[in-house]
Parts: sequence; C-alpha cells; structure tokens
Amino acid sequence: MAGFFRIQNLAATSFFVVVSLAIAQNDEQLTRTEEKLTTDRDFYDQWMKLINVQAEQLEEQSLDYPLDYVIRDLAQCPETKIQPGLDTNAVQPQDIAIYAEMGQLSSYCPSNHTLLSAGILGSCKQRSHTMKLPSLPKMLQIRGADLKTIDANHLEDPLPDQAKSIADEITRIPGYEEMWKMIVITATIQDGTASETGQTAIEVLAAIQELGQLLPKKTFVVVLRTSGSGLWRDASHANEACRTQLSKWKVHNKFNYNSVWDQVEIIVQKNYLRPNFSVEILPLFRDAALNNLPNM
Ligand SMILES: *[C@@H]1O[C@H](CO)[C@@H](O)[C@H](O)[C@H]1NC(C)=O
Ligand SMILES: *[C@@H]1O[C@H](CO)[C@@H](O)[C@H](O)[C@H]1NC(C)=O
Repeated sequence: MAGFFRIQNLAATSFFVVVSLAIAQNDEQLTRTEEKLTTDRDFYDQWMKLINVQAEQLEEQSLDYPLDYVIRDLAQCPETKIQPGLDTNAVQPQDIAIYAEMGQLSSYCPSNHTLLSAGILGSCKQRSHTMKLPSLPKMLQIRGADLKTIDANHLEDPLPDQAKSIADEITRIPGYEEMWKMIVITATIQDGTASETGQTAIEVLAAIQELGQLLPKKTFVVVLRTSGSGLWRDASHANEACRTQLSKWKVHNKFNYNSVWDQVEIIVQKNYLRPNFSVEILPLFRDAALNNLPNM
C-alpha cells in the first residue's frame, strides 16, 4: 500500500495546501467572512488578491503537474500476486471494503473563481472523496476495491467522537468484522484545542484508541502527521487576508508540538501494529512549510 500513499501525498501536498489552509474553516466562520467582505474594504482588497493568487496557482499546477496521470498510471499497474490479505501487512487495495475519513483535511472548499470573486464562498464541508481530483477511494476503486464509503461524522466534533460515530456506522454493516476497513485521519490544528492536553496529536491518539476498541478486527488506520507550525506561519505570512483569518488559530498553532507527535508515534508503534488492527502514521505535513511564497 505504501506506493499508494506516496502518490496520494504528492497530489495532496501540491494541491491542497494553499487552498485548504487559506479558507479551511467551518460554515459559521464562512458566513462571517462573507459578511466581512461586504463591510471591510481593506479585507475585501486583501481577499481579492488572495483568490487571484490561488486561481493562478491552480492554473499553473494543472498545466505543470496535471494529476490525471495518477489514475491513468494506476490503472496500468500490474497485479501483485501475494496471498489475499490475512493480516494488515498483506492487505491489497481490492481487499478493502469499507472506507472512512475524519479530520478537517478530509473536507474541502470549492474553488470557483467566479463565485469567490463575488464573495460567495460556498460550503467547506465537501468531502474530499467527492472531488474531481484523484482521491484515495478513487485510487482504491481503480485497483479493484468495491468500496462502501462512510460519511457519518461531523467534522466539528472532537476526533474521538468522530471515531465513535464512524465505528457506529460501520458496525451496522452486516459482516463488517470480516471486511477490511480503512480509516484515514487527516487532522490539522483545528481538530485540537489550544491546550497541552487537547492538542491535535493527543486527540488523534484518543481517536485511534476508540477505533481500536470498537473495530478491533480487520482495520487499517492511516494518520497524516501535521506537526509543527510552519504551514500556518507561512500561510499567514504570505497574504494579509490569510493573516486575518488565521490569527484566531495562533494559540492552537503553538500547541502542535513535534515532541508530542513523536511520542504518539512511539505509542502507536508499540500498541497498534497488530495483525488485525494496524495504524500507520505518514509524515505528510511533518514540519511542513510552503516554499516559494511571495513576501508581502
Ligand atoms: C462556477 O460557478 C458559476 C456560477 O454558478 C458556474 O456558472 C460555473 O460553471 C462554475 N465553474 C466551475 C468550473 O465549476
Ligand atoms: C483477525 O480477524 C479475523 C476476522 O474476525 C479472524 O478470522 C482472524 O483469525 C484474526 N486474525 C488474527 C491474527 O487474530
């Protein structure tokens, strides 16, 4: 499976960073942002600058690194011939029957420049597996998975609650224990609280513990590590509108220690590399930073 994640990582890294971080927020905040655009002229100007930069980046990205090749190439990969998945080490894409995602990065905001220019932001609760770009479930399906995708959770809930809600939905599926389940946790600082004990890594661990208890059989959990504050610092540095929007996350940002993530990784390695319940932590946004951003 490792190759899969690498591809997904590349796609996600290059594409999502600016779009998601700049406007990732809940619908209430979106409404407030839409209002602010009508009442705060400076913010309006900063905002227009931001969405123009985004539109240019998206266009450049689609010319320089079009992502359709991912699905095309995947379709041509030869079949690997190994024993059908008896434990998590041997799980193949086609073995996975149930798929779920949780965490703020599992949703996205539509990026329609026409609408954004008119100050209409749209809902940021769109699920990443519904987007046109290559998503992990789409890749699994290309490789023969007959997937049931679960959307049971509320992204504003704490991660352990989201884990419970997903597990609750899965346990209603007849025969779920005999099916391979893949659950992807893509948390950002917005999934934690601004405190030592509620920071994102700790919440992620609590979510893993819930899943381990509720779905102990044939479950494969993938966590994207988003430690450090580089991304947030850079995003707010790059654009005034981002700075305004991200300022309320300043304290959260402080509580996203690398050392805590390191500890969580150690705990996971000790406890959750079982044949029937395995957790893999991928360092996608470990110490992440945005390169090549223009200085304001
Ligand atoms: C963007 O929104 C406008 C107005 O609703 C619509 O006409 C247009 O097709 C949309 N563009 C894309 C690329 O979805
Ligand atoms: C894993 O769970 C499956 C399904 O319940 C079971 O058949 C199998 O024996 C378990 N494997 C191990 C190593 O516990």
